[in-house]
Amino acid sequence: MRFAIRGAFPALVPLAGLCLIGLAFAAAVPAPARGQKPAEDDALKRTRAQVKMLDDLFKVAVVDITNRYDGPPAAKVAKTIFTAAKEKHYFDARLLDATGSPQNEANVPVDDFEKSAAKAMIAGKTYFEQVVQTKDGGRRLRVATVVPAVVQKCAKCHGVKQGDLLGFLSYDVQVQ
Ligand code: HEC
Repeated sequence: MRFAIRGAFPALVPLAGLCLIGLAFAAAVPAPARGQKPAEDDALKRTRAQVKMLDDLFKVAVVDITNRYDGPPAAKVAKTIFTAAKEKHYFDARLLDATGSPQNEANVPVDDFEKSAAKAMIAGKTYFEQVVQTKDGGRRLRVATVVPAVVQKCAKCHGVKQGDLLGFLSYDVQVQ
């Protein structure tokens, strides 16, 4: 019996070593990546790229409409597009205020994400995001991107200086 234990011991040493290497490796991997399928991270990257594309295009459209036309502000066109996007379940988006004195009271930040995003923009950030776990086990990516008074027309109508912060675009997109 004593002999058997002694005989088995040397064989256990490399095994314990392997376990230790395994533990050290697991500790080196950042916590959020552990236990997460790489495919999911790819999905998050794809969703971020999708939001970036939408954001770039919306900003081009809003500035172009503002430069071309006087009258109905580009914000109204953006709202029409966002309503259509919501109805078709593409994504949710809102154009929100970060000045404390919006043109339309309906554009004030309401939920926790929007309020935190407004604080981040006021603190000088240009981008703010949050990944939200949904009850059905899915994920949503919430993103806020800064909206300054990029051209003189924006500044004049909103009563601020050109370049000043006006608000942000807030996106809520399903990660898939
Ligand atoms: C002719 C006046 C006018 C111009 C020019 C204008 N806006 Fe506005 N803006 C408005 C009005 C009115 C609203 C409210 C629209 C609504 O909610 O129906 C608004 C809403 C906004 C909001 C949402 C917060 C709020 O104040 O209600 C942001 C942010 C914004 N505009 C940014 C811009 C930017 C950036 C530009 C220039 C590219 C611009 N605006 C040009 C009148 C204007």
